[in-house]
Amino acid sequence: MFIAFEGVDGAGKSTQVRLLAEHLEGQGREVLLCREPGGTELGEELRRILLVTGGEMDPEVEVLLFMAARAQLCNKVIRPALEAGKVVISDRFLWSSVVYQGIVGGLGVEEVLSIGRVATRGLLPDLTVLVDLDPEDSHSGLDEDDRMESRGLDFQRRVREGFLSLAEEFSDNFALIDGGGSVEQVHGRVIEALPQVQS
Ligand code: TYD
Repeated sequence: MFIAFEGVDGAGKSTQVRLLAEHLEGQGREVLLCREPGGTELGEELRRILLVTGGEMDPEVEVLLFMAARAQLCNKVIRPALEAGKVVISDRFLWSSVVYQGIVGGLGVEEVLSIGRVATRGLLPDLTVLVDLDPEDSHSGLDEDDRMESRGLDFQRRVREGFLSLAEEFSDNFALIDGGGSVEQVHGRVIEALPQVQS
């Protein structure tokens, strides 16, 4: 089982990823956690370029670097873990590229999905948990020095709208979770959305 978490920056995804992992481990499952971009040596280097040192980048450059990190992660980490019977939980995956570079960056949904099919060789999460939160509520926790997170409230609003439109269009792949309330409340909603994992 491969589960990805998505949402605007600062929606609390990382905390929810950790809590779900603990929950599943409590049920005796082996869980592998990863995050995008990153998760391999090459991926972490690309992460540094993308989030810190890269400077101005056009969306087509960004998407190819994110996809390179993703390809490495799929080949070296995710596929082997799935083959070993582990549950893989990733903090972000392909839908982030579709939203940030495809919708907000203007490259197009189909275009990014088709680069994605090459990068992942068709591997998609069994379920994508979209932690939905009004950027108004998540914005204060963001790091203004982060190349990606310093882009302002309007940008985050467009990201949120992008994710919501994908969740509607590709509803089979998404569980839409209200990210408001306490960490425990959101965790409860995540668990409810994953009946197939509980069994
Ligand atoms: P990160 O610090 O991991 O943010 P978060 O805690 O919000 O996940 O930074 C990842 C940033 O990179 C985030 O702003 C989203 C962006 N991103 C893309 O633009 N495209 C992608 O394909 C991915 C995976 C992330």
